[in-house]
Amino acid sequence: MLDRANRNIEYLRVSITDRCNLRCVYCMPEGGVPGLSHEAILRYEEILRIVRVAAKKGIRKVRLTGGEPLVRKDVVSLIKEIAAIPGIDDLSLTTNGILLGKMAEGLYDAGLRRINISLDSLNPVRFGELTRGGDLRAVLDGIRRAEETGFDPIKINVVAIKGINDNEIREFARLTLTRPYHVRFIEFMPTGGIATWDGGRIITADEIMDKISALGRLSAVNQDSQGGQKAKAGGPAKLYKLPDAMGILGFISALSNHFCGSCNRLRLTADGKLRPCLFSETEIDIKAPLRSGCGDAELSRLISLALAVKPEGHSIAGGIKDKYRRSMSKIGG
Ligand code: GTP
Ligand code: 5AD
Ligand code: SF4
Repeated sequence: MLDRANRNIEYLRVSITDRCNLRCVYCMPEGGVPGLSHEAILRYEEILRIVRVAAKKGIRKVRLTGGEPLVRKDVVSLIKEIAAIPGIDDLSLTTNGILLGKMAEGLYDAGLRRINISLDSLNPVRFGELTRGGDLRAVLDGIRRAEETGFDPIKINVVAIKGINDNEIREFARLTLTRPYHVRFIEFMPTGGIATWDGGRIITADEIMDKISALGRLSAVNQDSQGGQKAKAGGPAKLYKLPDAMGILGFISALSNHFCGSCNRLRLTADGKLRPCLFSETEIDIKAPLRSGCGDAELSRLISLALAVKPEGHSIAGGIKDKYRRSMSKIGG
């Protein structure tokens, strides 16, 4: 599936809920965001229909996101059904890890083989502050359970924020010396509804690498050799390794060196909008046509339309004037 800039779009990120059991300071306002009603959210059979049509058009990689996808009821059965869709050869999920300890085995049995976990501090007090009440032990237990269950690779997403967790960058990087994780540092991005947004808090990927190089020489890792399932190429992270490390370091430079030119993704929001770009407010409603009984050909046409309006790139690094309307929890990252 080629978009108007000739990019091969083969990755669909599906946000299955806007709800979350945390309220990270860089993602949500303190009071949380008003939740969508039950009716406003796509039902599982609706999501499945869209994914089936998308798979026929060339989508082969699906990631479930939220909010927090593990808080939605019966997510395990959704995973089972998506894993069985012909053409989908890479299924993954991004979670905050709070419920992972309890759910890892069920998720694996349903067909999920790899998982990305957000974790921004290894200090319990700071973690509690950053997530406004989260319990670090639960996440660490979730990561351990995921490893024991056999998930591979396990990717840990760290949003690097100056003055908040920059003094933990090396500790996170050190994790890769003894554990087989991919630890990925993400540049702080401006998204809707966050009081903490402040361009002064961005730490660029280069700055992060600089800090880490005190631990040893970083050698570049071939993007295609990430281990685990197929379909690892085309991701936004640039990969490196410390000498003798078991794991891999990734750098997602969404602002300082954006990867829009090789973007391979389309998003489906929990309320049924196709969103061609994280940083563009353009969205295409697919829920209303779906609920008014349209056929698969019309769904297919709407997906093509989303590709036709997918921007060639964002320019947020040039000067961020306004915050974006949708919070990250309503897009799924
Ligand atoms: P894999 O590489 O397939 O494991 O997944 P991923 O990196 O696409 O998924 P994940 O949900 O772990 O995303 C990591 C982070 O990359 C997200 O938190 C976003 O902050 C960032 N990101 C993902 N997609 C985009 C994108 O299209 N544009 C920008 N600017 N950032 C993105
Ligand atoms: N900047 C960068 N990454 C963010 N995420 C949420 N909000 C932001 C932001 N403002 C990340 C989460 C998670 C992923 C889905 O999105 O940490 O790993
Ligand atoms: Fe929840 Fe993820 Fe947002 Fe944190 S970043 S509040 S875990 S959706």
